[in-house]
Amino acid sequence: MAPAQHYFSEQPDPPSAPRTIRVRLPDVELDLVADAGVFSGRQLDTGTRILLKHAPPPPVEGDLLDLGCGYGPIALTLARRNPARQVWAVDVNERALALVERNAAAAGLSNVTACLPDQLPDPVRFAAIYSNPPIRIGKPALHALLLRWLARLAQDGAAWLVVQRNLGSDSLARWLAEQGYPTRRLHSERGYRILAVDPREP
Ligand SMILES: C[S@@+](CC[C@H](N)C(=O)[O-])C[C@H]1O[C@@H](n2cnc3c(N)ncnc32)[C@H](O)[C@@H]1O
Repeated sequence: MAPAQHYFSEQPDPPSAPRTIRVRLPDVELDLVADAGVFSGRQLDTGTRILLKHAPPPPVEGDLLDLGCGYGPIALTLARRNPARQVWAVDVNERALALVERNAAAAGLSNVTACLPDQLPDPVRFAAIYSNPPIRIGKPALHALLLRWLARLAQDGAAWLVVQRNLGSDSLARWLAEQGYPTRRLHSERGYRILAVDPREP
């Protein structure tokens, strides 16, 4: 039997069915192309919208990371809001990465680089990480993923994650704190939490 397809497949099987997603935020308007086989390829995800409306600006100078970028709504919003910064958009889904490149070009955003995790140069550190993380990859993989990228925060950098309460946001916050990443609930809305992972917090 063929393995099940997920939005986090490296090369999704479903035939391409591009679709325009309208991102409408108080300060940013973007029309992005999404596709079958990519997370939330029919509309802007509710959690992503909440993250983009409530997560604060980066706390320090430096590059930004969208961890698990999908077709790029977070990365491209960050790039529009922070035109002088380099935004890294990382995903394992190659169809998603191609969409980010296409969407960045169409929006005239030259400060976005889409790449596979292992392609991101080792020395790069992040002033901030913004993520709607792939909870469905399972707890051990999710934990490893977060530890891998949080270790690359610059001094005084911070991360904001949107996680559904019924998918374990509160236990994830506790686990992050136990790993040495002070984490608090920044915002709660419609069953989603924004977790602020902020080493500057006591
Ligand atoms: C919940 S989706 C969010 C997508 C997009 N940021 C959005 O808001 O629409 C999580 C994304 O993480 C990606 N992902 C899964 N495993 C990953 C890994 N090990 N490294 C980076 N991204 C991964 C998935 O392919 C998926 O696109």
